[in-house]
Amino acid sequence: MQIPAWVLTASLLLLSDLVWAEHSAQNHLDPLSFGLHLPFLEEVHTTFLTVQEGCQSAGSTEQQDAEKARLLDRMRRNNGQWDTNHPRHRLLQALHGFRRYEETHVEDVSRWEGLYRHVSKRQRPILEKTIGYSGKFGKAKQRMVHNAAVSEAIVQAGLGYYEMEATELEDYIRDAEKGGPAGHGADKVSVSQTLKHFIKDWASEGGVERGPGFSCVFDNLRSLNLSDGSGHLADGPRRQVLIPGAGLGRLGHEVAQLGYQVTINEWSMYMNVAYRFLEQQHCVRNSHMLYPFVDNWSHHATDEDMQRPVSFPDVAANSSSVVLVEGDFTTAFHGHAGEFDVVITYFFIDTARNLMTYLETIHRLLRPGGYWLNFGPLLYGSAPFVQLSLEEILLVSQSLGFSFVEIPSSCGEPTLPGWPVRWMESIYGFNARALVKHAYKSQAWAAQKH
Ligand SMILES: C[S@@+](CC[C@H](N)C(=O)[O-])C[C@H]1O[C@@H](n2cnc3c(N)ncnc32)[C@H](O)[C@@H]1O
Repeated sequence: MQIPAWVLTASLLLLSDLVWAEHSAQNHLDPLSFGLHLPFLEEVHTTFLTVQEGCQSAGSTEQQDAEKARLLDRMRRNNGQWDTNHPRHRLLQALHGFRRYEETHVEDVSRWEGLYRHVSKRQRPILEKTIGYSGKFGKAKQRMVHNAAVSEAIVQAGLGYYEMEATELEDYIRDAEKGGPAGHGADKVSVSQTLKHFIKDWASEGGVERGPGFSCVFDNLRSLNLSDGSGHLADGPRRQVLIPGAGLGRLGHEVAQLGYQVTINEWSMYMNVAYRFLEQQHCVRNSHMLYPFVDNWSHHATDEDMQRPVSFPDVAANSSSVVLVEGDFTTAFHGHAGEFDVVITYFFIDTARNLMTYLETIHRLLRPGGYWLNFGPLLYGSAPFVQLSLEEILLVSQSLGFSFVEIPSSCGEPTLPGWPVRWMESIYGFNARALVKHAYKSQAWAAQKH
């Protein structure tokens, strides 16, 4: 059988990660510190193919296939106006970013290397003798090359899923970079943030950040008594849960594990392409690995912390258990009014351009008697049409037809007298070992549509 070159690249990548996972578990080693030698990889190639076959057999559900057909139709170049908001354009932009991971990131390290030359001739030997400072540049660049290979595997998964020819992306990149260096116009920050989300959502290290918020959501769901534990009511259909702004989807997968039928929704094509990669590959636990922290040299206790690898996914999630509907939450569900039993907004409502439209959409999509569960901060973006305080959100939601109900005390302490809203601290920083801590007072509530 002929294996396309990218499959082989991705294979070796996955294989190297698998080998690394096994060795590091035994020896606490980092692959780049002992080098990845191809002959070593060849020895275990058969194991990898066996694993891949297992992945492919998971397949997709009828609902996923139908959603994909709708998505590919929306993605046609001649469907709607061709501009930077067109989903195909946004896809190309995201693929451009992932393809240029190496160029955009290594450039930073080269710049830092250049700045190091300003350290005086007297000072430099001290740094070299005691910590081998200049060795950090090469080490970081090596790790970035590895991250770039993961990024390229994401690109290939995207091209496959969205049925796009490689030449279309190449043409797009050529145009976007015209007159500039390789990587010109590629969005480095979105790519880096998306890769870090793998750690937050799908690595065991991210459990510190996920744990408290997820527990609050699960306790909240249980307290609503919607399910008999298997996801079914004795005499009813499976309960439908919608999670807009789902990022890389871990919460959706966990809620599906509780027995609910879960639809996740996401606008960012960076997240969506990365999720498609995960969906196709994540049936093997800890099969991938990234060096997520080498692009930012601040807030590290040790160099080893900064250069460390993190493997993912920490669980072999079932990709067929969740449907991803891509696009803007406020428009992607036209024709689905009253379909959902629960809408969970998790670190989401403050992303709204128009918060009123989010609130109205949540209300419209819920069936009468359905519940809206919220968890997250109120960190408004750069140009929101309205910026409401917590109390204002609660008052406005009431007037739109929501009644707030009591939630479990595991969601924290009450925030406002007279309202059943609780808060707990949520760390949002991706790096459990960092010397900095970003935390929010996340607000949790449950509101019933009447
Ligand atoms: C703060 S992130 C949280 C992601 C995820 N819920 C988590 O906790 O990891 C907010 C997410 O909402 C997405 N988003 C923003 N506006 C959206 C919209 N109108 N429709 C769907 N998703 C949106 C963003 O792309 C981003 O992934």
